[in-house]
Amino acid sequence: MDTKFFDSKAVEGLDRVDGRLKVTGAARYSAEFPIPKLTYGVLVTSTVAGGKIQSMDAKKAEKAPGVLAVISHFNAPQIPGYSEGSNPAKGQTTKGQPLRIFSDDTIYFYGQPVALVVADTLERAQFTAGLVQAQYQKTSFQTGFDANVSSADFPSQAKNRNSNGDYLRGEADAYKTAPVKVEAEYVIPTEVHNPMELQSIIAVWDAPDKVTVYDKTQSLKGVQGTIAQAFKIPVENVQVVATYVGGAFGNALRTWPHEIAAVMAAQKVGRPVKLVISRDQMFTMVGYRPYTWQKVGLGATADGKLVGISHEAISQTSTYEEFTEGTVNVSKFLYACPNVNTRYKILPLNVSTPTWMRGPGEASGAFALDCAMDELAYQLNLDPIELRLRNHADTDPERNLPWSSKYLKECYQEAADRIGWFKRNPKPRSMKTEDGMLIGYGMGTGSFSAGRSAATASIQMLADGTYTIQCATTDIGPGTATAMVQIASDVLQVPVEKIKFQLGNSSFPKAPSQGGSSTVSTVGSAVTAVCVSLKNKLGELAIGQGEAASVKPADLTFANGQITSKDQSIKIAYADVLKKHSLPTLDVTEESKSGDERRKYSFYSFSVHFVEVNVHPATGQVKVKRVVSCADAGKIINHKTAGSQVIGGAIGGIGMALMEEAVIDDRFGRYVNNNLADYHVPVHADIPAIDAVFIDKKDPYINPMGSKGVGEISLIGMAAAVANAVFHATGKRVRDLPITTDKLV
Ligand code: MOS
Repeated sequence: MDTKFFDSKAVEGLDRVDGRLKVTGAARYSAEFPIPKLTYGVLVTSTVAGGKIQSMDAKKAEKAPGVLAVISHFNAPQIPGYSEGSNPAKGQTTKGQPLRIFSDDTIYFYGQPVALVVADTLERAQFTAGLVQAQYQKTSFQTGFDANVSSADFPSQAKNRNSNGDYLRGEADAYKTAPVKVEAEYVIPTEVHNPMELQSIIAVWDAPDKVTVYDKTQSLKGVQGTIAQAFKIPVENVQVVATYVGGAFGNALRTWPHEIAAVMAAQKVGRPVKLVISRDQMFTMVGYRPYTWQKVGLGATADGKLVGISHEAISQTSTYEEFTEGTVNVSKFLYACPNVNTRYKILPLNVSTPTWMRGPGEASGAFALDCAMDELAYQLNLDPIELRLRNHADTDPERNLPWSSKYLKECYQEAADRIGWFKRNPKPRSMKTEDGMLIGYGMGTGSFSAGRSAATASIQMLADGTYTIQCATTDIGPGTATAMVQIASDVLQVPVEKIKFQLGNSSFPKAPSQGGSSTVSTVGSAVTAVCVSLKNKLGELAIGQGEAASVKPADLTFANGQITSKDQSIKIAYADVLKKHSLPTLDVTEESKSGDERRKYSFYSFSVHFVEVNVHPATGQVKVKRVVSCADAGKIINHKTAGSQVIGGAIGGIGMALMEEAVIDDRFGRYVNNNLADYHVPVHADIPAIDAVFIDKKDPYINPMGSKGVGEISLIGMAAAVANAVFHATGKRVRDLPITTDKLV
């Protein structure tokens, strides 16, 4: 039997299989399902940042036209599994746990949901939400990072281990005694998830113990499990549908309180409830990249060999829950260095809980590390690429393992050539355009773990020679179905048009959340496995009991939808195998997961970003003129969709570097720019042509395709590249993002 996969070049740039549906508006997103008897929920939120809800006047609201319910902690139905362990009267506390909506009177942050109005139209629900009056007993609260930074502490989980989570290799703070050193502090402000599609859910109770939710989520099985647990109903009685997701970058990895509120409300009013949170509520209800302070110390010999890296980070979290991420991780493995120490702390403030945001902590960490590397290169009078090459980690210095594959040097070379790196004058503020703009070049490195976990896929082949594959993954934008159809086409050796890939439904075979750049790796492996299994079955059936019974399965070739035996005694189209056996369908389900290789190798994707900026010498306005990003993400299944990931990540990185910043007025604990007019994200006019390049070499160990991940590495390191380019243009080192004009004049 042939085991040759993924050598097909023919379909590598396949258009998105759902592209037409998306651009014509036929693709149905979670808030768009036409459900009969639908009602509308609108959340009322707290106007204080700390305290207790004393009373709530909902009388007017309850009598308003079309109103079906006003739900708050005063009248919320007891949800059996949700309120478990959270009864303050019994001395129980929910500290360290996700916010439990409408479960008690405590206010932790400004904008916390305190009531849900359900009405027969959206307009009536919105109007009525304004009639609900809550009175608060205010207490003091803290939202200022700098003012409270001395209260930062190690995460509880880390404290339970003796190390506090500190990492040490070799000697601590070795950089301090090195001949050449850099010591600098860096700040990332709070960045908020602002995809086009707002977080939304429609909850429909089909029976007293059976519910369907149409939900914006990256995690079908996660939402399914959380709802089943909260409402104490069997998991299989919860159906989660997320056929399309209009952009999610970590904001839909968890089940958030508004989702529970919608399910609770639908149960209470006995009708389906749709809840779409508003843009300003996106700032407080679905997580964000936390405000993070970092300090990096780098020490090197005079010829540019690193002798010490110290990396310390403090990130904000909420007062009720500890959110942690891998901010200092990159410093442990990205460069070869004998002495490395890292420390990570969190600072609880009266804000909502942060969450993962593309590249999660690594994006924040890489900004600090790769800006510091740039500073070191200038101190050493060494080209930033040369500095990185001299400290290239040939094996994983953290885990002491060989890399499964690493083409980072090739990335440096390829991208540097493309942007004309070596033609620049490296001296800061030395280059100008004809009309007097300062020109700057900068670069940054990205890396992220190349994951693979377990997933199951099913395939159904019909006698007409068409195939439907199902898997409970989601598609938050990368084009998952397109890549999966290509993988299946390559393994089955049938045209892509014959194959459908269905996702976005929790009743399909199990898959993990779409996150951590691991869907192609994980789900693609399951698709490969199920297609191989289907071919095996077809082979067995083709051999059958007749005169061909002496043919061995290993003698069969599968090509162009046809099975051929070595001795030519078998020559039959796949579909005819079913017809011959009078089978209307052939069904196979297979699970696939990683194995022993995970202990033998270190799996990472790598990227390099090069940026050219123009900076106005008087106003400090920064314009990104060119981006070249080169990724080592293993074998690229689809250059078009993977390239789109790189472009999206670069744009996210430009926003991070130059624009994004959620600002809280600490007097009130309230966001002042919680809308898309004041919270700036890049628009088309801000973005130049972006050159997305792939090394496109198979990883020999990760999975049958040889594909690593590309989502996170397309952003990680990008903000450093922009900041380093701004330094080269202006001679000004801005270490607190975003780099706005006021910091450059
Ligand atoms: Mo991503 S932060 O794993 O959605």
